[in-house]
Amino acid sequence: MEITFRLNGDLVTVRDTPTRTLLDYLRENRGLTGTKEGCNEGDCGACTVMVEDESGKKPLNACILFLPQLHGKSVTTVEGLSKGDTLHPVQSAMIEEHGSQCGFCTPGIVMSLATAHARGETDHEDILAGNLCRCTGYAPILRAAKKAEAAPIPEELEHIPFPAPAIVERPESSDELAGLYALRPDATLIAGATDVGLWVTKQMRDLDEVIFLNGVEDLKGITETEEAFEIGAMTPIADLIALFKPHCASLSEMYRRFASTQVRAAATLGGNIANGSPIGDSPPPLIAAGASLTLRKGEDHRTIALEDFFIAYGKQDRGTSEFVERITVPKSGLKDLKVYKLSKRFDQDISAVCGAFNITVTDGKIAAARIAFGGMAGTPARAKEVEAALIGQPWTMDTIEAALPAFATAYTPMSDMRASAAYRLTSAQNMLKRYFAESQGLTTSVLSVTETAKEGA
Ligand SMILES: Cc1cc2nc3c(=O)[nH]c(=O)nc-3n(C[C@H](O)[C@H](O)[C@H](O)COP(=O)(O)OP(=O)(O)OC[C@H]3O[C@@H](n4cnc5c(N)ncnc54)[C@H](O)[C@@H]3O)c2cc1C
Ligand code: FES
Ligand code: FES
Repeated sequence: MEITFRLNGDLVTVRDTPTRTLLDYLRENRGLTGTKEGCNEGDCGACTVMVEDESGKKPLNACILFLPQLHGKSVTTVEGLSKGDTLHPVQSAMIEEHGSQCGFCTPGIVMSLATAHARGETDHEDILAGNLCRCTGYAPILRAAKKAEAAPIPEELEHIPFPAPAIVERPESSDELAGLYALRPDATLIAGATDVGLWVTKQMRDLDEVIFLNGVEDLKGITETEEAFEIGAMTPIADLIALFKPHCASLSEMYRRFASTQVRAAATLGGNIANGSPIGDSPPPLIAAGASLTLRKGEDHRTIALEDFFIAYGKQDRGTSEFVERITVPKSGLKDLKVYKLSKRFDQDISAVCGAFNITVTDGKIAAARIAFGGMAGTPARAKEVEAALIGQPWTMDTIEAALPAFATAYTPMSDMRASAAYRLTSAQNMLKRYFAESQGLTTSVLSVTETAKEGA
């Protein structure tokens, strides 16, 4: 497959192994060593580059970005940011504010901030959640970001031209994908590569055959009907923050805390579900909301309840050559929904436990309850025993207390590096108490606690 993209303004054509990462290509083939390799797994942001396509500019981690994902796009690295001796405003501000010490993290930080600057974004703490710096400290970096805000976007970054796509062997529609996947049933599908990238960079796996989904336009985007949101499998996680904000603030906030700006720009909802991870953040709230999944194989489509997709650890209800087409989220399921993500770090961390509650109370009694968790079993799973203990009962703390033991029947969580089994069980129970307390206006939400902390800092 021949890949064409623009690199710091120059058109490049590459023929290479499909799972060659942009980071390796930049450093080894192009000598562009300003882009650093830190973790090589999407966590530290030292490898951040600016990528532009029809949907605009985004910061992406080059270490988990395969070259074919760049086809038809423009890449700017830290070497392409300044014009001759004129530094980008973010670079100047970083110098003036002493925002760099060892300097290893600096190029990635500069690229994240320069991309945000070009997008007019100013929530610098969120923007930098995926960029780790362990020596300068964030205060001078944040001061630099603030200082650069008012500077105009350098002309050459205003609009970076994309190359015209050359002919490549990749599906450009779901019809083409269905045909190709039928011919190549053993191929690995690659969406945003934020999971698959690590199979290559960390597990050193050779993926024999791969099919890139990034050209499949009709799997991208969201359709809103009166009853539901139909979300194409290739919709980036980043788009879900704004989508859910007016309908379910805690779901929107969970997506804001999903990984980092760079990862959210690449990761897709389809990938988050299809990977079948027991700690993926999307399944618990979407199961609790009553979402369904549409799968396609050849010309056949089928729709199942999202919860039925997860059969056992590592086993999903997905046949040979079948792929996830879209996820349908009923609006009615968002009204009473709340989701709580518990992780060791507030930002950019995988959940230890993710609990979602959708409890409808009518005339003081619990009329319906859908509760789902990640991190409590080998798959994302509903707490049917807890639901049964609640339905029909009065909406009181006594009812909540009486339902708590049912968590131990519903789940047998495991102990691992993220949390012990006992901690998981207790925090799941506490989440139900919190849902009740919040419904009574008895406590503040995590969001306002954070805001309070920020104000105090
Ligand atoms: C630093 C970092 C932080 C992360 N933080 C979080 C987090 O906070 N919460 C969280 O839930 N996850 C997190 N993840 C995991 C990952 O980002 C998500 O699971 C993401 O949604 C995967 O989507 P993707 O498009 O990148 O999938 P890919 O890596 O491309 O694919 C994942 C799997 O899904 C399959 N697949 C993809 N699309 C389809 C399709 N349409 N049909 C069938 N199969 C398909 C692939 O073959 C593969 O098996 C993190 C990852 C990294 C690297
Ligand atoms: S090297 Fe750490 S995110 Fe890429
Ligand atoms: S300047 Fe970032 S780790 Fe030192």
